[in-house]
Amino acid sequence: MSKILTIGAHGGIGRLFCQKAEEAGLSIRAMVRIEEQQAHFEAQGIEAVLGDLEAEFSHAFEGCDQVVFTAGSGGSTGGDKTLLVDLYGAIRSIRESEERGVGHFVMVSALRVEKPLEAPPAMRHYMVAKLLADQHLFESTLRSTILRPGRLTNQAGSGRVRTKTEGQGSEISRENVADCIVEALRHPSASNRVVDLLDGDVPIEKVFAGG
Ligand SMILES: NC(=O)c1ccc[n+]([C@@H]2O[C@H](COP(=O)([O-])OP(=O)(O)OC[C@H]3O[C@@H](n4cnc5c(N)ncnc54)[C@H](OP(=O)(O)O)[C@@H]3O)[C@@H](O)[C@H]2O)c1
Repeated sequence: MSKILTIGAHGGIGRLFCQKAEEAGLSIRAMVRIEEQQAHFEAQGIEAVLGDLEAEFSHAFEGCDQVVFTAGSGGSTGGDKTLLVDLYGAIRSIRESEERGVGHFVMVSALRVEKPLEAPPAMRHYMVAKLLADQHLFESTLRSTILRPGRLTNQAGSGRVRTKTEGQGSEISRENVADCIVEALRHPSASNRVVDLLDGDVPIEKVFAGG
C-alpha cells in the first residue's frame, strides 16, 4: 500500500489533511517536530515520526512513495526561517524524495509566487522562497503536483474551488486545500501539474479527476 509522508503535518492544513486522509483510508506518516504532536497523531491511529527541516529528517522518508509538503515558517518568524524552512527545507525534501525514488510529490505553494515583485514588500522574500522551491521541484525528476492557494482562512470547507484567478475573492479555506491534497494524491497527474486554488464553485473531485 502506498505510504504518504506529510511534512508540516501539525500545521493548519496539515492537521486537516491528515484527518481526512486517515478517514479516506490513505496510509500516512505525519512528520512533526515535538513529542506531544507525535502523541496527538498516534492517539488518532496515525503513524507519526519526529523530524525537523532544519536538522536531520531523512529517516522520515523510509518506505514512503508519496510526499506532501505543507510546512512553512509562518508569519511570526524572520526571513532567516523563510530561507531555512520554506526554501532550503523544501529543496532538501525534494532531493531526498528523488534519492528515495518517491513517485509523486505534492507541494503546497502559494498563489502568484511567479510574480514576487508584485507582492507587498514584506511578502516578497517569502514569494521568492516559494517560487524557487517550486522551480526546484519542477526541474527535479519527480512527478509533482504544485498547489497554489490564495490567502488561507479557517472557514469550513465548501468542497468547491476555482482554479482561475479572475473574479471575486482571493481566499481559500484550509479545509478546501486539505481536500484538494487528498484528491491530488488519489489522481496523481501524468506529468507535473500546477493548480491555482481559490474558494469557488467547481467540485474538488472534478478539478483533479482527470489526473
Ligand atoms: N497563510 C496563508 O495565507 C498562505 C497562503 C498560501 C500558501 N500558504 C502556505 O501554506 C502552507 C501551510 O499553511 P498553514 O496555515 O497550514 O501553516 P502552519 O499552520 O503555520 O503550519 C506550518 C507547519 O510547518 C511546520 N514547520 C515549521 N518549521 C518546521 C521545521 N523546521 N521542520 C518541520 N516542520 C516545520 C510547523 O511545525 P510546528 O507545528 O512545530 O510549528 C507547522 O506544523 C505553508 O507552506 C504556507 O507557506 C499560506
